[in-house]
Formats: sequence, C-alpha cells, structure tokens
Amino acid sequence: MRLDKLIASQGKYSRNDVKKLIRDGLVTVDGEKAATSDIQVNPETSEVVVDGTPLCYREHVYIMLNKPAGVVSATDDREHETVLDLVPDGLKRPGLFPAGRLDADTTGFVLITDDGDFAHKILSPKNHVEKTYIAELADPISEDDVEKLESGIVLKDETRCLPAKINVLDERKIEIKICEGKYHQIKRMIAATGNRVLVLKRTKMGGLPLDIDLLPGNCREITQEELGVITT
Ligand code: URA
Repeated sequence: MRLDKLIASQGKYSRNDVKKLIRDGLVTVDGEKAATSDIQVNPETSEVVVDGTPLCYREHVYIMLNKPAGVVSATDDREHETVLDLVPDGLKRPGLFPAGRLDADTTGFVLITDDGDFAHKILSPKNHVEKTYIAELADPISEDDVEKLESGIVLKDETRCLPAKINVLDERKIEIKICEGKYHQIKRMIAATGNRVLVLKRTKMGGLPLDIDLLPGNCREITQEELGVITT
C-alpha cells in the first residue's frame, strides 16, 4: 500500500497532512526517513513512525455507540445530528458507517464500522444474528400476540416477518429478538397486533450486550474478542 494512503486510512491525519509530514521529514519506515509519499509499504509488517509516534495499523475499526434519541443513523444529514457526529476524533477514520439503522427515536446499541463485509455478515437475515430490543407498549400484550410474533407475523402491508423471540417482562414491556432489519420493523410488528411501541431500545447485537457503563451519546471500541461474540 502507498505510504500516504496507509497513514491517512488510520484517521488521525488527512492525505494533505500526511504529504506535509513526509515532506518535513517526520515519517520513518523501518527506521529510514521516508523520501516520498508514494513509496510502497506493507501495512502488516512495515514499522511506520509518524511525528515520533509508531503507527498502530488496523485494517478496520468497530465501535459501539449508545445512541440517544434524536440522533439519526446516517453518515451525514443537514438538519440533524448523526451517529457519526458522536464518534470521537481518536476513532474517526474514512469510510465509517452505521451497520444497521435505528429510528431517530430509538436508543441503544449502534455498531459503527468501516468493514462492509462484517456489516453484511451481521445484517443478513441468512446469518441469524439476533438483534435484541426492549419495547414498551401502549397496551398489554396478550398470549395470542406473542404467539403471532413468534410464528412470523404478517404486517399490515402483507409482508411476512421471520419468527421473533419474545420474552414478556411485564404486561406492557417485552424483550424482542429479530434477525431482520426491515424499515420500522418492530413498530410495524407490534402495530400488526393492534398495539403500539412507545419506547424502543436496542440492548444487544448477536451475543454482545450494550455496555452498561456507556452513557447515552458515548462510544467505545469493540475488542476483537467481543467481535467474535456478536456472530456466535
Ligand atoms: N424496529 C423499529 O421499529 N425501529 C428501530 O429503530 C429498530 C427496529
């Protein structure tokens, strides 16, 4: 990979910053001052030092955000704050996007990454990665509603959903697990039972729960070990 591309891909410096750093003699590769921006380096094995700090190369980043209400799951938006606006500078890099969207009024776990293959893996219903939500409902849920949701409810527009898993926490509060990500899916599933979602929070992706120490609006990196937990 080109040296300037490698350094810029890690987020801290823009391509122009990198060119200047190299011109100013502030970048070394394997102990030698880098003469030009276009020299080829091996991201895994070359030791790159930028302005005195060794570059710790990571191909991709995976971020857990506790999304507050009112923030949109987009990469940019003229009017509203986006989930990417909440990523701190130290974790920002080109190509980040939310892997799966939550509605503006839904809170909780949003995974932000620059790894398209991983996003596809966790979002495709074929891979059965469950997303867990807590939903507070306007009316009590009946056993019949639970059965409909668990056997694959048909939405008002005739779309059939895959079977969900329901855990009734109290008569107006459920934990619901789904493997799909249709538009407003849980709200529409609950609407199909004649009920309404008042509050919705995503609490888990696959086997990985939202970190209870992460305050609304805060992000932290997901470790390699935790990544494995998502897909198992
Ligand atoms: N289902 C919804 O209805 N909304 C969300 O934000 C997520 C799942």
